[in-house]
Amino acid sequence: MCGIFAYAGTENAVPLLIEGLRSVEYRGYDSAGISVIDSSGEIQTVKRGDHKASLENLAVAAGESQLSGVVGIGHTRWATHGEVNQQNSHPHASSDGSVSIAHNGIIENFIELKDQLVDSGFEFKSETDSEVLAHLVGNRVAAGSSLREAVIGAAGQIKGNTAIVAVSKAEPDVVVGLRVGNAGGIVVGKSDHAAVMASDTIALLPYTSEVIYLEPGEVVEIEHGDVRLFDLQGSTITREPVVTAQNFEAAQKGNHPHFMSKEIAEEPDAVQGAMRGRADFSAGTLSLPEISLTSEKLKSIDRVVLTGMGTSLHAAMFGASVIESLARIPATAENSSELRYRNPVLGPNTLIVAVTQSGETADTLAAMEHARNAGSPQGVVLELEGSQATRIADFTLPVRAGQEIGVASTKTLIGSMTTLLELAVVLAETRGVIDAVQVKTIVESMAELPSLIAKTLELNGQVSELADRLSKFEDLLYLGRGAQLPIALEGALKMKELAYIHAEGYAAGEMKHGVNALLGDDMATVVAAPQNDLYEKMLSNISEVKARGGEVAAIATEGDEMIGRVADHVIYVPKCPELLQPFVTLVPMQILAYRTALALGRDPDKPRNLAKTVTVE
Ligand code: G6P
Repeated sequence: MCGIFAYAGTENAVPLLIEGLRSVEYRGYDSAGISVIDSSGEIQTVKRGDHKASLENLAVAAGESQLSGVVGIGHTRWATHGEVNQQNSHPHASSDGSVSIAHNGIIENFIELKDQLVDSGFEFKSETDSEVLAHLVGNRVAAGSSLREAVIGAAGQIKGNTAIVAVSKAEPDVVVGLRVGNAGGIVVGKSDHAAVMASDTIALLPYTSEVIYLEPGEVVEIEHGDVRLFDLQGSTITREPVVTAQNFEAAQKGNHPHFMSKEIAEEPDAVQGAMRGRADFSAGTLSLPEISLTSEKLKSIDRVVLTGMGTSLHAAMFGASVIESLARIPATAENSSELRYRNPVLGPNTLIVAVTQSGETADTLAAMEHARNAGSPQGVVLELEGSQATRIADFTLPVRAGQEIGVASTKTLIGSMTTLLELAVVLAETRGVIDAVQVKTIVESMAELPSLIAKTLELNGQVSELADRLSKFEDLLYLGRGAQLPIALEGALKMKELAYIHAEGYAAGEMKHGVNALLGDDMATVVAAPQNDLYEKMLSNISEVKARGGEVAAIATEGDEMIGRVADHVIYVPKCPELLQPFVTLVPMQILAYRTALALGRDPDKPRNLAKTVTVE
């Protein structure tokens, strides 16, 4: 979702702003724009609302107009208020053109504020809520406030979570950034003669690996190589930068045609990353040193609630299933947007485990805050360290899959599942439900996970053929049971996200209660049916689909001859312990969606209408 990049230094900011925006575009965007203060002290703005072509078109337009200046702000917009077009793109200017702002978040009271401004004679050039901010900040600057005071004052007038960057003609060397609540982060860094800020650490890496994350309720001023932090009352804050482990090369596509194919290919490494320093394969032990709760506290836990959104919710569902089965603690997974509003019963003995790739998803953060206020201990399983979720949780379990750029999450999911499996084992051992011998057996089997996943990657060719076939359907059904249910749901989600084919994920046992009415030759069914205790039930479900004229593709265990007699297509995954089966059935589901998207000419890295980091609810 919306991305920010700002520069205050000595070089021409224009190409730097465009490069900065390129590194945040993966969050999802449909428009792009920049404002710079030129050598005569005027604010010049160029913007484009051309969907995916916006950044390229912006770069061309900025070049043609010979725009230059050493201080500026840039923004990639993901439309919430007003259609995708040039006027609605950020930055937005105050009426007198003396201030320009870019904004992430939603201004919940914007209609009221806009009405007041219109009544006072302000003219709006866009349909956005964000333009309100430009006028509010501009007003305050015109009345004599510094840019920082004006941004703080304007932020106090609006309701909702917000991140803002702003420049003013009156202070041509300065950019101000502000963060209130959770509308995406702001991270700041500096090199010798420049300071930069962005919504993503990755955009800062060409400048520095030492960064400062703004907390909600903080403001920053950058000027040349200076970074000054304040709270909303204007008091100075002193904070040392932290060194980020993110790396720029990891965020490049390399030889792969898409980030998604690269990220799927990196899944064996992602799993390894999640086990590094935790699983000791020679000793057969497993520990999660990051868990800051005492073993007494862990023993007192009587319920685990996992939460997340999208693919991370599916990881949470997998986590709930392994935690309950291994550690014998009641565990459920719930969508964060539901959890945050339904006034759930939580308390000191409920462990909350949030799962989030970005650590910035608005609903997930709100659910986490709710749990914190309820006094529940909580951990977060997350990829992007330094993000807001780490500051809400009591402990962070980093996934360490490496930065994921494709909008649809793949390697982070498999890394999150690995981390959650580890959490389940640690909880089980701490609570005395399994002993060291059982842990050793699990750890030994986990040692094979990277190679098992590498083997499933070899299925690419077979999966491509199936993808060609499935691309002919407008409706698909995905079935699973037990720990395969989140995998079936994820398979369907991926197919919707990437190929834009309507796909429903369903608990196989639920079919008779509705979806059977849709079965027929115009809907194909994908079934996760590895050999386990529920295998025979799945065979019956396949027969039910076949009996109604449906075409079935099964993901099954190699060596299973039976399934080939009932299903039309079979993708065989390697044999492995049941605990690890969801990992090996997941990979072909991901490849299937990727290949189907390609067969239909879709862009798998940037699916329409979707964003990677959803910073508004
Ligand atoms: C968006 C992304 C998904 C992701 C979800 C949750 O919908 O497109 O890939 O699973 O947000 O994001 P999070 O960063 O919290 O995992």
